[in-house]
Amino acid sequence: GLGHAHGSVAATAGTQPGERSLVPVTALTEPTGEKADASFTLVAQQAQVRLQSGKTVDAWTYNGKAPGPELRLKQGQLVEITLKNKDIAEGVTLHWHGLDIPNAEDGVAGATQDAVMPGEEHTYRFRAEQAGTFWYHTHQQSKESVAKGLFGAIVVEPAQEASPPDRDITVLSHRWEGAGLAVGDADGVRRIAAREGERVKLRLIHTDDWVIQSYRLIGASFKVTAIDGTDLNAPGDLSRVRLSLPTGGRYDVTFTMPSRPVYLSVDGDKQTGILFSADGTGDIPEAEGPYADFDPTSYGKPADVPFHADSGFDREFEMVLDNEFGFYNGQFAAFDTINGEVFPNTPMFMVGEGDLVKVTVANRSAVEHPMHLHGHHMLVLSKNGEAVTGSPWWSDTLSVMPGDRYEVAFRADNPGLWMDHCHNLVHASAGMTMHLMYE
Ligand code: C2O
Ligand code: CU
Repeated sequence: GLGHAHGSVAATAGTQPGERSLVPVTALTEPTGEKADASFTLVAQQAQVRLQSGKTVDAWTYNGKAPGPELRLKQGQLVEITLKNKDIAEGVTLHWHGLDIPNAEDGVAGATQDAVMPGEEHTYRFRAEQAGTFWYHTHQQSKESVAKGLFGAIVVEPAQEASPPDRDITVLSHRWEGAGLAVGDADGVRRIAAREGERVKLRLIHTDDWVIQSYRLIGASFKVTAIDGTDLNAPGDLSRVRLSLPTGGRYDVTFTMPSRPVYLSVDGDKQTGILFSADGTGDIPEAEGPYADFDPTSYGKPADVPFHADSGFDREFEMVLDNEFGFYNGQFAAFDTINGEVFPNTPMFMVGEGDLVKVTVANRSAVEHPMHLHGHHMLVLSKNGEAVTGSPWWSDTLSVMPGDRYEVAFRADNPGLWMDHCHNLVHASAGMTMHLMYE
């Protein structure tokens, strides 16, 4: 329970993930001096952003845009990104959500670097080893700062691709304070002219706090080709299936443009989405309900994986997600707990390099928790005692619904101090944050 609460809560209630420095801030990798294949500069600054409807948002931006500029790379490229802070008084960083890069580049203020304050800059340098859909966001005062706009997409294209899609569209959905839901800066229906037979790839990224976002593709069958930046094996055709993404999660979806219009409905209505039609005009097709929910545990076909449920695990941990109530400064408050504790009193999982690690995550609370592990991808072994029977499913942001219990496993192959936290950032700041640390 929260017997210790009066001691720990003071450090927790006003603290964002990563603010508290647990290890000396030192670089774990030496710059090689090698010339970068791609370089970007992102300037954190306040700006007024104009949405498609004409509404404006007082945003915190990278380069005056919210979402920030999309960074596109080829797999294997060495990238260098210079972050400058113009006027964000709280400080900023860049965390590369889903990219398993060296710890020193992970962008967690107070753990892997200090926050970059106004007038300062910091350069990140890493090799983009994974092809897929990722996003970047600040990891300092994350709850407020990500909501205000300090995020963007980072897409790593395969070095070689036999048949690249004809269109590759990033769908970053976000709810702007005072303006509502938008895809990028399109609060309303974005319209795209697409010819019959064109192959379209949609990269769904959900950046909102606190809610699960639902997506329906109306008028075409489709495949989910990747989850959390990792390809699925032999994905089959889906139709009348609703996709749900937790905060921080990503799905890659592909479809072939039919002779009639197709509509990507975000959040289940006609207000926000993308219409594809021959000339980009026309009516939004009606949903042909009912819609079943996408089930990643049985989708696609099994394939070789480096370890499975009956592999010998070097370490096994249990994570129980719950919530408790208590008093803080005379106010009644809710805390989101891991194993009965709030950060920084939550457990730290200690691993050795090379260990095969199994984690059981059980949600005993009444709300969903998308658990995000930095620096590693987790192979989902089972859900509620049932083994995954479809494609191998690697997750970095696992949505754990109330009552659900997952077994996941990963190889501890990326030394450092890593966060593991709920990506409903409200929960992360209310205690649901912990660390994975290499001995
Ligand atoms: Cu998307 Cu710890 O973050
Ligand atoms: Cu949560």
